[in-house]
Amino acid sequence: MNEDRGYALITGASQGLGAAIALELARHGFGVLLVARSEESLRRVAEEAAALNGGRARTFVADLFAPDATEAIVEWTRSLNLSLTCLVNNAGQGLWGLFDELPLDEQLRMMHLNMDVPVKLTHRLLPHLKRAQRSYVLNISSMTAYSAMASLAVYGGSKTFLLRWSRSLRVELKNGPVSVTAVCPGSIITGFTERAGMMAMDDLARKFGTGPEPVAKAAVRAMLRGKAEVVPGLLNRITATVQGLMPKGLNEKVASGIYLKRLPKK
Ligand SMILES: NC(=O)c1ccc[n+]([C@@H]2O[C@H](COP(=O)([O-])OP(=O)(O)OC[C@H]3O[C@@H](n4cnc5c(N)ncnc54)[C@H](OP(=O)(O)O)[C@@H]3O)[C@@H](O)[C@H]2O)c1
Repeated sequence: MNEDRGYALITGASQGLGAAIALELARHGFGVLLVARSEESLRRVAEEAAALNGGRARTFVADLFAPDATEAIVEWTRSLNLSLTCLVNNAGQGLWGLFDELPLDEQLRMMHLNMDVPVKLTHRLLPHLKRAQRSYVLNISSMTAYSAMASLAVYGGSKTFLLRWSRSLRVELKNGPVSVTAVCPGSIITGFTERAGMMAMDDLARKFGTGPEPVAKAAVRAMLRGKAEVVPGLLNRITATVQGLMPKGLNEKVASGIYLKRLPKK
């Protein structure tokens, strides 16, 4: 087992990328504080993590859609009286459809989960992170942050916010102990597509996506190296580079076309 690196709080740690990041952090010597709604799944991830890091895994059941959930998490973290050295803002959700056809309340809830929760948690936990000699904030954005995309307007907007906020915060904190890293994954094979109502995209996700483990490894490696931003996977990095070189309008047309073609007709 690696050295004791203090504790990492991971939101959305019951499955998918959050669970994989929690296990990767445990492998690197972090204790893990796991947050999500599904108690039983959290318990299973905690057991796996505990086997990797000498039993340092705790769980907290919270629904992050609830307005008071972040405060409850902060209080719980404080009450544990542990050395917090890492915050992973991973919990997030997608919604696929045309902006004016998706219910407004669902889009606002997603904005709360994808943006307000990371901002609130980071703001409230930064004083704790600053107490450590070296600490980290890891923000899970998405490759959708690199191009405007029809049918993912609010989701893509929320991930663009997360990336820009993450990089700005990093600059603000550059003279202190807290390093901020944003991760922009492409397709990952998790429960995400089903929850986002994107089953019609599943075949593409399976063809070009990966499991969450390599993404978690790349994310934790970049975080520990103090990188500002990482796109896991060579194909994704090539795609992001090509997107950056294309005229914006053409890029938006191509990226939107892939999704619009498969969007079920109402
Ligand atoms: N999958 C992809 O293709 C992909 C690509 C780029 C970026 N991402 C980003 O990666 C992150 C993780 O997604 P994933 O692919 O691992 O999706 P996932 O399998 O659906 O996992 C989402 C996690 O977030 C938790 N969560 C969702 N809503 C919550 C709520 N209201 N309160 C508390 N926890 C909540 C879920 O736990 P409970 O249901 O137990 O609460 C689960 O642990 C997200 O931010 C997503 O935007 C995903």
